[in-house]
Amino acid sequence: MSRSELPIGVFDSGVGGLTVLHECLVSLPAEDFLYLGDSGHFPYGTKSAEELRDRAAAIAGELLGRGVKMLVIACNSATAAAGDEIRKLGEQAGVPVVTVVGPEAEIAATISGNGRVGVLATPATVASGAYRRALDSMGRPLTVTEVAAPDLAPIIQDGPTFDEEVLDLVRGYCQPLREAGTDTLILGCTHYPLVAPMLQRMLGRDVSLVTAGHAIAAAIQRELASRGELASGQVEGDYRFLVTGDVDSFVEVGTRFLQLPLAGRAVKVEV
Ligand code: DGL
Repeated sequence: MSRSELPIGVFDSGVGGLTVLHECLVSLPAEDFLYLGDSGHFPYGTKSAEELRDRAAAIAGELLGRGVKMLVIACNSATAAAGDEIRKLGEQAGVPVVTVVGPEAEIAATISGNGRVGVLATPATVASGAYRRALDSMGRPLTVTEVAAPDLAPIIQDGPTFDEEVLDLVRGYCQPLREAGTDTLILGCTHYPLVAPMLQRMLGRDVSLVTAGHAIAAAIQRELASRGELASGQVEGDYRFLVTGDVDSFVEVGTRFLQLPLAGRAVKVEV
């Protein structure tokens, strides 16, 4: 089998990364994907950097061991804590690693009109300073307002997502962003695109929301093309799931995130 026929490995703490996978399936329809949802260890957003490095290394090892041509970290918390380590692991295995954070920071810095950029993310991602560093390196002065949301990803993953309580919570998180005059908000957690309509309503139509999906799909495309490893042919690729937690609930919640069928495509794995 040539390398171009191998799947692309993607992982997240659970279903959030499926918002990234969704864009990849649309932008790269001929590719095969192997997605590992670490739902048995969800949430990542309140874990220490050391715990996150251990989880990310174990999962990267699992996916590399199964034979993937690329690793995608579709989780901001894991990228912020372990991005550099996983890139090194990938290098040793000759497998490129694509992560979130950098691509969103680049888009936000480019499109912001008033230079006031907001970041809504998990406590682990905010504490890491990863977005602040990425935005600081973009070559233009930006005022960055970071808001840590400890309970948003768990609510989105476990539901119910769309009720008054969540609306109040989102309203509270938007308050400092509004006060700061934010015109561009990075959704710094791959779970958050599911509450994008709520955020847009609270912040107003003029505020641009930046999510990881498009940017990551474009980065994957560029990297594979430069290595001559894009899947050839016009056929529709396959997508499969490895799950460390309960498979049935992953399939049920995941279908909402991916908006494509998951049933019959997911198996349990111990990592
Ligand atoms: N989806 C993950 C992220 O992008 C975090 C969710 C969690 O496990 O807390 O940060």
